Amino acid sequence: MSARKTLAVLLGSGLLLGTAQLSAAPTASMLADTCAGCHGTDGASTGPATPSLAGMSEVYMVDSMKAFKSGERYSTIMGRIAKGYSEEEFKLMASVFAKQPVATTSQKTDATKVAAGEKLFGKNCEKCHDEKGGLADDDAGILYSQWLPYLQYTMEDYKAGSREMPKKMKKKVDKLSDAEIEALLQFFASQQ
Ligand code: HEC
Ligand code: HEC
Repeated sequence: MSARKTLAVLLGSGLLLGTAQLSAAPTASMLADTCAGCHGTDGASTGPATPSLAGMSEVYMVDSMKAFKSGERYSTIMGRIAKGYSEEEFKLMASVFAKQPVATTSQKTDATKVAAGEKLFGKNCEKCHDEKGGLADDDAGILYSQWLPYLQYTMEDYKAGSREMPKKMKKKVDKLSDAEIEALLQFFASQQ
């Protein structure tokens, strides 16, 4: 369709709201839609190595995208993707995901490990990952019902230093054994 024809159609349908409104309104969801191929519809990922984004706080998502873009946070894919967008666009996408309810997965977990993780959660992680990891207020990502393989890769990245762990979280994590960390991740993954 030529630009003139488009204009005529828009005028005809009463959709011409002025260019600012016209581009601003659809942009946030259009941007977020470009993520759906991997992160699922409505931020609910179906692939276990790709995290769900639904319910993530805006601050956490913008910070994560900036860290991917600069290379400060290690990634297999996201670094390349983040380079294609500006900070303003990160904010727009983040506003879409922040409004979505946290996604729920149905994963196979080990009941014994989940029970052990539940016991460790209160003392070690709850302060910052409240509501079983579902509260985004602390800008700490979404752990509730998050994919277990993603959580496991993430802890490996933290331990290897390819992603910087918050100091206070590190203090807790360093005191726990690998088996205890695995139990905690199973606990988060089992939520539904
Ligand atoms: C080709 C698949 C793919 C696409 C497209 C994609 N992602 Fe990702 N995303 C991943 C993978 C895989 C990870 C895990 C990190 C890594 O290895 O890159 C990830 C991780 C993330 C994380 C970190 C989540 C957390 O819990 O810390 C955020 C935020 C994110 N992606 C946002 C986005 C946004 C926003 C878009 C759309 C602009 C997008 N992604 C598009 C595959 C993708
Ligand atoms: C003092 C607060 C604090 C404590 C305690 C804490 N965390 Fe975190 N956690 C954070 C913050 C902040 C982030 C986001 C850091 C970042 O941007 O890399 C985070 C991120 C994470 C992530 C990555 C989330 C993602 O989506 O990629 C995992 C996994 C995690 N924490 C697990 C744990 C576990 C398990 C415990 C308990 C042993 C714990 N944390 C204790 C503050 C905390």
